[in-house]
Amino acid sequence: MREISDNATTHDNPEPELPSESPTLTDRISEVLQNGVKAVIGSNRKPPRRFKSLLHGTWLGHPLHPAITDVPIGAWLLAVIFDIVWLASPDANSWAARGAEIAVLIGILAAIAAAVTGLADWSDSYGAERTVGLYHAGLNSLALILYIVSFFLRLADPSGESVAAAILGFIAIVSVFVAAYLGGDMVFGKGTGVNHVAWQEGSHDFVAALPVAELPDNTLRRVEVAGVPVVLVKLGTKYAAIASTCSHAGGPLDEGELQGDVVQCPWHGSRFRMRDGKAITGPATFSQPRYDVQVRDGMIYLRQA
Ligand code: FES
Repeated sequence: MREISDNATTHDNPEPELPSESPTLTDRISEVLQNGVKAVIGSNRKPPRRFKSLLHGTWLGHPLHPAITDVPIGAWLLAVIFDIVWLASPDANSWAARGAEIAVLIGILAAIAAAVTGLADWSDSYGAERTVGLYHAGLNSLALILYIVSFFLRLADPSGESVAAAILGFIAIVSVFVAAYLGGDMVFGKGTGVNHVAWQEGSHDFVAALPVAELPDNTLRRVEVAGVPVVLVKLGTKYAAIASTCSHAGGPLDEGELQGDVVQCPWHGSRFRMRDGKAITGPATFSQPRYDVQVRDGMIYLRQA
């Protein structure tokens, strides 16, 4: 996964250089849209960051977008079933047309929330995942527009029975399913939004990490504990250590910026509290594993808490 940062410089980017070929039309569209999204919901690197973090789900400790997307999919699928029921027997099942109308409306409202949270996540994506995300968003937007038209057609009919509205719903649900497939590809195929430290297991016994003399105050220092990269800092008389691989997309926190008790990831600007690893602002939603620190005989020892 490549990084994209609000104020990134070439120096910030530890990944291989981008190919020199000119950006594709999809890249250009994505960049314009991402800049537009960030202009509206804010940047990770400049306060206020709270609204964007709220949309990512940092406060929840879990990505918010996938938790919301089930609602429109479920509601619109229910609308399809209701439509089939009343179309099969309009006189006997007119109640189902009204049920479809309500389900379509619930789906529209939930889809707007899903779109806003999804755009927040997508604004920090890059490369192939950004391209797939653009198609995912495009298909879902198409479905949303079709369902809005479908809803107003239903409203225009006193009984809510509109064959055209039902047909639009059938077309839209296909678009939703294809978009859901692409969303799954982003997560399961490209690792978008997964916790990048979920499989890291450091030592649960204290391991010698660094001589005390080699750790200046207020300086981020990368060490390894049982093969796991850890970022260590001395703040006054206290030591703090958390996993160095950023839970958001794997950025190196030891190359980040220390802001008091908080480290900011160099890739997309997530901020974590050093004393407990808690994600303070996104796009990260998962906290960092914390390490216990012991100092003995001039040596710093660490173990995963
Ligand atoms: S890798 Fe994205 S914020 Fe750290």
